Amino acid sequence: MITVFGYIGSPSAELREAVSDAALVVGGRRHLDALNVPEERRIVLGRIAPAIEVLQALTGDEKAVVIASGDPLFYGVVRRIRAAGLKVRVIPALTSLQLAFAAVALPWDDALLVSLHGNDPEPAIAALRAHQKVGLLTDGRTGLPQIVDATAGLGRTYVLAERLGEDDEQIRVLSEDQAREITDIAQPNVVLVLAYHPDDPAALGEQTAIAGGVRPQGV
Ligand SMILES: C[S@@+](CC[C@H](N)C(=O)[O-])C[C@H]1O[C@@H](n2cnc3c(N)ncnc32)[C@H](O)[C@@H]1O
Repeated sequence: MITVFGYIGSPSAELREAVSDAALVVGGRRHLDALNVPEERRIVLGRIAPAIEVLQALTGDEKAVVIASGDPLFYGVVRRIRAAGLKVRVIPALTSLQLAFAAVALPWDDALLVSLHGNDPEPAIAALRAHQKVGLLTDGRTGLPQIVDATAGLGRTYVLAERLGEDDEQIRVLSEDQAREITDIAQPNVVLVLAYHPDDPAALGEQTAIAGGVRPQGV
């Protein structure tokens, strides 16, 4: 049985218990370290393909735990694992973007959600300019500086949400000029790009039947 746990902040009691008697635990180093997973039972991600091969070699009776950052079904590992023919049980968690929107008390049903993480940034960067409320997963190569360049001169407000759920979590609400001056950006982080400052009632946006910022709004 393979169980995929979402993880953001601190591990749940259920995750701790599952890890304690799992034959194999797959996850990022910081998550495995936080759970004190012994070397002989851990697979550090990295690329998911080698981990999937090991999971495929397990017998059905062995317990395996896969730890995913944020929600495992939102730009997470479950798609690849299931596409490889493996059955999983999923224990969800909040996504990093939910936490970022919560930090500035903004509804996100009308937000366009974008992943720059490991993806070609061009299509996403283009979409940024056409929407009033965008939440972006970043990576070490494409993050706040590239996002600010792509939206230069539009008067956007940027919310830089770093290391959500960790002791050193930081939320910064920045104008374009302020965002350009930031050099000490911690990983992982997400960025919200807003047409209005989060304290402006206009930033609340509109509730529509179809979620996901599908209606581009020129500003
Ligand atoms: C492969 S994506 C996984 C997204 C994840 N499934 C989620 O629901 O948030 C990895 C990206 O998620 C974001 N992320 C994950 N954990 C984070 C955290 N604790 N704080 C800020 N951003 C985080 C970062 O943009 C990171 O590069």
